[in-house]
Amino acid sequence: MQKKKLRVGILTAGGDCPGLNAVIRAVAKKLIIEQDAEIIGIKDGYDGVIRNRYKNLSYSDVSGILTLGGTILGTSNIANPYRHAVKENGKVVFKDISKEVIQNIKHLDLNCLVCIGGDGTLAIGYKLFRDGIPVIGVPKTIDNDLLGTDVTFGFDTAVRIATNAIDILHSTAQAHHRIMIIEVMGRTAGWIALYSGIAGGGDIILLPEIPYDIEGIVARVKGRSKRGDKFSIIVISEGAKPKGGDVVVRKMVESSTIQARLGGVGSVLGEQLEDITGIETRTVVLGHLQRGGTPSAMDRILATELGTKAVELITEREFGYMVGVKGRALVKVHLEEVAKGSKLVPLKHRLIESARAVGTSFGDD
Ligand code: F6P
Repeated sequence: MQKKKLRVGILTAGGDCPGLNAVIRAVAKKLIIEQDAEIIGIKDGYDGVIRNRYKNLSYSDVSGILTLGGTILGTSNIANPYRHAVKENGKVVFKDISKEVIQNIKHLDLNCLVCIGGDGTLAIGYKLFRDGIPVIGVPKTIDNDLLGTDVTFGFDTAVRIATNAIDILHSTAQAHHRIMIIEVMGRTAGWIALYSGIAGGGDIILLPEIPYDIEGIVARVKGRSKRGDKFSIIVISEGAKPKGGDVVVRKMVESSTIQARLGGVGSVLGEQLEDITGIETRTVVLGHLQRGGTPSAMDRILATELGTKAVELITEREFGYMVGVKGRALVKVHLEEVAKGSKLVPLKHRLIESARAVGTSFGDD
């Protein structure tokens, strides 16, 4: 009798980020080369298991995708089997349809479901695991805010794009003696602002973790002006907020598990600063530019390492884990740990201390 082939499902969920295709490629190629496995690509994240939308992935389907941004499988940052949005009498209500979805997954007869995603995706992956599905998680997000791993793929590319934008905006800010505010993504974590702000030489870096004081920012900008630096570069995270104030919400996505989409704090701050200082101020919101395009070399490498490590766990039948990076080592972390919250920038992070040491303000002095 012919031995049943190993069958592995792969889905990409949550906001897309550069490197997703590199992980799909790594997982699928290693499984096909070493174990002649069957790879089932699940379309549009958890929406694919809700609506039974799949496609078989052959070796040639996953060849030539290493450098592609986005995801060949599609994604959704809304679909959630445990909180499925439906409209009833014109209102959105949420239903737990996980029992049906688990049956859908069981019909696929998978030996493992690889869930590539951020905190929301992996929290759902953990619930599926508890409900009997053999899940392995792979950490992705430009925000770098996942617990259990030092770094996520996508972050390096986003930091490069943001740094490049800051470099470009420096010369126009200088030429016009303006305040230039660059708003970057990151939700409630300031990693992108911190890294790109330091790499781009931002004069002021505003993070969600350190509420800012408008008077302090004004004093810093005026101080620079007096010294002869007639322009200032402010890098602000979309989740930054003033002391005693709140985040600025760009949009509420009713059907999403995390409904608030942040954005707009850069413009609010810009108007205040222009009014108080009289210095012309411009704001640039980088937005989804940070998620697009080809992954950086570092992200391609990380995605390949994480993808192949995930296959090791599948082969050892070690389910319920996310693969991650700790120091220089690849590790496995239980999904329960990952689902506990978000990895924010610690207030005593060494990069904050280095930046302060070279005169950068975090808006709190
Ligand atoms: O989590 C990734 C991310 O890009 C965040 O940085 C940002 O706040 C959010 O997704 C934007 O979501 P959407 O694509 O739904 O606007």
